[in-house]
Amino acid sequence: MRTPLLFILLIISTTVLAQSRSIIELHTGWKFKKGNFENAYQIDFNDTGWQNVTVPHDWAIYGPFDKEIDKQTVAITQNGETSATEKTGRTGSLPFIGNAWYRNTFEIPEHTENKKTLLLFEGAMSEPQVYLNGVKIGEWAYGYAYFYFDISKHLKPGKNTLAVKLSNESFSSRWYPGAGLYRKVSLITKNAQSIDQWGTFITTPLVTEKEAKVNIKTAVTGSDLKMVTSIYDKTGKRIASDSTSTLYNSKFEQNIKVNNPNLWSPENPYLYTSVSRLYVGNKLTDEVKTTFGIRSISYSSENGFQLNGKTRKFKGVCLHHDLGPLGTAVNKAALRRQMTILKDLGCDAIRSAHNMPSFEQLELADEMGFLFLAESFDEWKKPKVENGYNRFFDDYAEKDITNLVRATRNHPSIVMWSAGNEVPDQYGSEGVKRAKWLQDIFHREDPTRPVTVGMDQVKATMESGFGAILDIPGLNYRVHLYEEAYDKFPQGFILGSETASTVSSRGIYKFPVKKASMKEYPDLQSSSYDLEYCSWSNLPEDDFILQDDKPWVIGEFVWTGFDYLGEPTPYDTSWPARSSYFGMIDLAGIPKDRYYLYRSRWNTEKETLHILPHWNWEGREGEKTPVFVYTNYDRAELFVNGKSQGIQIKNDSTPQTRYRLMWNEVIYEPGTLKVIAYTQDGSVAAEKKVETAGKPYAIQLEADRKTITADGNDLSFVTVSVVDKVGNICPTATNRLNFKVTGNGEFKAVANGDPTSLEAFHKPTMKLFSGKLVVLVQSDITSGDIRLKVSGTSLKSAVLKLKSTPINY
Ligand code: GAL
Repeated sequence: MRTPLLFILLIISTTVLAQSRSIIELHTGWKFKKGNFENAYQIDFNDTGWQNVTVPHDWAIYGPFDKEIDKQTVAITQNGETSATEKTGRTGSLPFIGNAWYRNTFEIPEHTENKKTLLLFEGAMSEPQVYLNGVKIGEWAYGYAYFYFDISKHLKPGKNTLAVKLSNESFSSRWYPGAGLYRKVSLITKNAQSIDQWGTFITTPLVTEKEAKVNIKTAVTGSDLKMVTSIYDKTGKRIASDSTSTLYNSKFEQNIKVNNPNLWSPENPYLYTSVSRLYVGNKLTDEVKTTFGIRSISYSSENGFQLNGKTRKFKGVCLHHDLGPLGTAVNKAALRRQMTILKDLGCDAIRSAHNMPSFEQLELADEMGFLFLAESFDEWKKPKVENGYNRFFDDYAEKDITNLVRATRNHPSIVMWSAGNEVPDQYGSEGVKRAKWLQDIFHREDPTRPVTVGMDQVKATMESGFGAILDIPGLNYRVHLYEEAYDKFPQGFILGSETASTVSSRGIYKFPVKKASMKEYPDLQSSSYDLEYCSWSNLPEDDFILQDDKPWVIGEFVWTGFDYLGEPTPYDTSWPARSSYFGMIDLAGIPKDRYYLYRSRWNTEKETLHILPHWNWEGREGEKTPVFVYTNYDRAELFVNGKSQGIQIKNDSTPQTRYRLMWNEVIYEPGTLKVIAYTQDGSVAAEKKVETAGKPYAIQLEADRKTITADGNDLSFVTVSVVDKVGNICPTATNRLNFKVTGNGEFKAVANGDPTSLEAFHKPTMKLFSGKLVVLVQSDITSGDIRLKVSGTSLKSAVLKLKSTPINY
């Protein structure tokens, strides 16, 4: 990293704001070391030999992968297992377990007695113990929680020493949780008389085309206070304003009218800004800017889920928080890329499984247009894993939910909270009480959004009343119980809070092509014919049918959008499987075939016409090699080297024939596979071809963005393929490639999407998987040209020129 060792000082908003509050992000200047250092909290502790790191930071992503790490010999009861087996890659086999310390020495330029300084952590994995100037100032437990401490009385003039100890236990997670200060840490300095942290709460209780009532509650500290709130549109024009001096229990409440509001939706993610200016007498003492959207939501048995008065169904995906080769260290460019891919998919909703989303992801959801289901826990009081959240539930659940809601409630994208996922507390009356208690906390903090829990023990929740008390009954899988749940639960609608869990490996196809549950192969891959699923789950079409035929089903969240580290089902017991097979998109961010199946339904703007498998089957000549086409057209004709294989029309004879076009009897011969889609009147609508590729000849590079920002964090994702002499992509190539970045950027990471690869993500070499991989190039803090060179033995190398431009403040 060529970023300076000084912290980055971010003064938000206007010059007026600079006098009233400042936010210092502690991004650089961190010293890090794994291990137990009893005295590392002390000011004069010698950390000179420690590693220099920037935060966000994930200490475990650099590996190496190791089979022994967090090896769990358990029966996963929620998966229906009755006897224990040895699970190797369950939490990703990366070294996240153990203790580690971070230290940072910083200065607060203008701290005086009349100021208040808060130290905010957006996530610390996990069990943080926080020390300032040799004194313990606080601790937290849950690695996904947002929390802050008032450090005003511990601050000194000049240098201050912050030390954070983190500890991760084995058997504490069901997936790769990451390790470290993986989200931002910042210092907020403001006047003692000021707006409270997360003290602004904006709702829109009345929304019509003509007018909106914007309700703004602001919690404050001080006396003789006046609040002036102004609303600005997207162009920065002030469109409404209000002033009040009336406090109700230390809160101002204002109702501001906005005429002809521009309503927020995934299709029109229009954002307004509210600026709250707090005065003591006539003197400005604080100023806080909040972006928000004007939109209405409702859930009812008559109309299902409505956004701005229109019924729609969630076309959602569940996402874990890791960013593949970057691990869990949050990075906005990586999130933006994920969400750009999801937009192309036609996806309009995200569930943060199974914990608090990053602030960056929510900002992007507001800005790019995604509905958001913000989740809190995977576990309550009854354990799923020995050292999971059950250890903290009693002491922390209320605090964790309160912080989740207060920190994120102004995001228009959030349309539902989730209090939990498949919690074992679904059984028994204690669990019902817990569900009610948690839901009430959400309601107390935010009366405008409903609460769900992803339920897998659907029969039990019907009997206990657990499902009946929830605002939104969420079913995880259990397609056979939807009708019964609809009948028995009082709400009058059902959410597919988790669906499918179909498994596949990008570009890998297995023969014979057969529908199968928990299917395993010697190479530890799953077939991309998209017919393999888990014992508790199902194929995408089983959900499509419910979504399409039952008006009372309000949408689905597919497990998962992207592959993630850990949980390598169906290979939980087979080393070296270490990441998931569930994604529609692989760990490198490359779409699998399944992506196009969902795209053909979800993306109603763009055409989808996708052929699988690839057509490089040396050795399969003369053998049956089924061809599937995922398309939004309902009929198409397939040709092998010009010979028609007949026309297929979508039909209701099986769930698959309703949504896929399938030619099951195709005999493989090398050459050209061509599909022509027709409209219902028989005219040609679109055409696609796949060719048998020759030997790998040259490297081909394609960047998602060629111009990035010189902020030391921005990333260009470069997809690398190899092609034959005439430019056909070689779909089975596994060549080893090497990467070199020169100029104003650096090589950051690489991933190929192979769930069994043990190659390190941060080393500039990797083998292709199914002909592709993705290289991440990071900007440094000086703008200029960046050059990526990719080479490999006996291949024509390739060079890509990228550019970074100065930060636009
Ligand atoms: C669900 C669970 C998810 C994931 C998934 C795999 O039951 O909620 O976290 O484990 O199964 O299919």
